[in-house]
Amino acid sequence: MSASEAPYKSFAIAGAGPHIGLPIVQAFLALNVPILVLVRPTSTSTSTLPLADPNLKLAHVDYADTPAVSALLRAHSVDVLISAVSLVTGGVGAQTVLADAARDAGVRLFVPSEYGTPTRGDKSGAGLPKDQFAEYLTSIGIPWLRLYCGLFHEFVPWLAAVEETGKFLIVGKGETPNSFTSIPEVAQYLAHVLTTAPPSRLANTELRIEGQRATLAQFGALFAPSRTVAHVDALPLPAGDFRGFVQAKFEIGAGSSGWDCVTETDDAELARSGNALWEGHRWAGVGEVLGLQ
Ligand SMILES: NC(=O)c1ccc[n+]([C@@H]2O[C@H](COP(=O)([O-])OP(=O)(O)OC[C@H]3O[C@@H](n4cnc5c(N)ncnc54)[C@H](OP(=O)(O)O)[C@@H]3O)[C@@H](O)[C@H]2O)c1
Repeated sequence: MSASEAPYKSFAIAGAGPHIGLPIVQAFLALNVPILVLVRPTSTSTSTLPLADPNLKLAHVDYADTPAVSALLRAHSVDVLISAVSLVTGGVGAQTVLADAARDAGVRLFVPSEYGTPTRGDKSGAGLPKDQFAEYLTSIGIPWLRLYCGLFHEFVPWLAAVEETGKFLIVGKGETPNSFTSIPEVAQYLAHVLTTAPPSRLANTELRIEGQRATLAQFGALFAPSRTVAHVDALPLPAGDFRGFVQAKFEIGAGSSGWDCVTETDDAELARSGNALWEGHRWAGVGEVLGLQ
């Protein structure tokens, strides 16, 4: 076995926030696999971390300090650095420092903060900084793994502005299929593939998963017993709220894990192509996860 084919053994994560970072930490711990959690000195995430678990190691580090991050990764012989940092609160620059430090420390794989709809070739939308960062990883020569999963099941009520309006609002017809995956399954999938799949299957790969393929109109039917379902031209949300933009993307199928940002086409088979790496897993649907069935 060549050195590059040796299974990944040592894992670290930056950005253990409540949405996806913490569930990824929990997924590693559930497999009894140690994980190093990097947090910024100002972090407020630590109170939710299962610090009593002996497999969890916590390290405070300044993401602006490349040598300090690099020394930390090297000291723990980290093979894989997972990023789940927020990209809306300034994490874009932080990821660049993390990547530089990872390269300097000999990290073998960088998992950038994706966990949404495909971003490769996205030159205009919210995916642009994610795509630019993936190009940066390539430019500095560190292998990467981009994971696309569509919208989290748990974010469906958010997308339809249920909390703010009391209704399930669909911009347009909502009849185009898109991809949806539950948060625990995204996290468990990532931990599973990183600890079981050969590096050659993962390095410089886009993995596309899909827990459920469905339309917003189908989800509206799930909410209909308790909520009015309405089709609207725009969501009645404050300026700057980007859910209307996301729904417009979903109206053309850009929320599918099989979406190609360059050709603007969808491929339903491709959307769930990565599911095969979690053989035998039964994926949960939105109704089941949200308790609507
Ligand atoms: N598919 C979906 O439905 C969906 C939904 C939500 C998010 N996502 C994706 O998941 C990823 C993570 O998003 P999130 O909502 O989980 O993020 P988040 O909760 O806002 O933040 C996650 C963590 O990022 C770190 N962080 C925040 N600002 C930072 C900065 N300026 N520099 C460095 N680190 C910073 C913080 O960790 P510390 O304070 O501990 O250092 C924070 O706990 C993003 O790529 C996002 O697009 C997908």
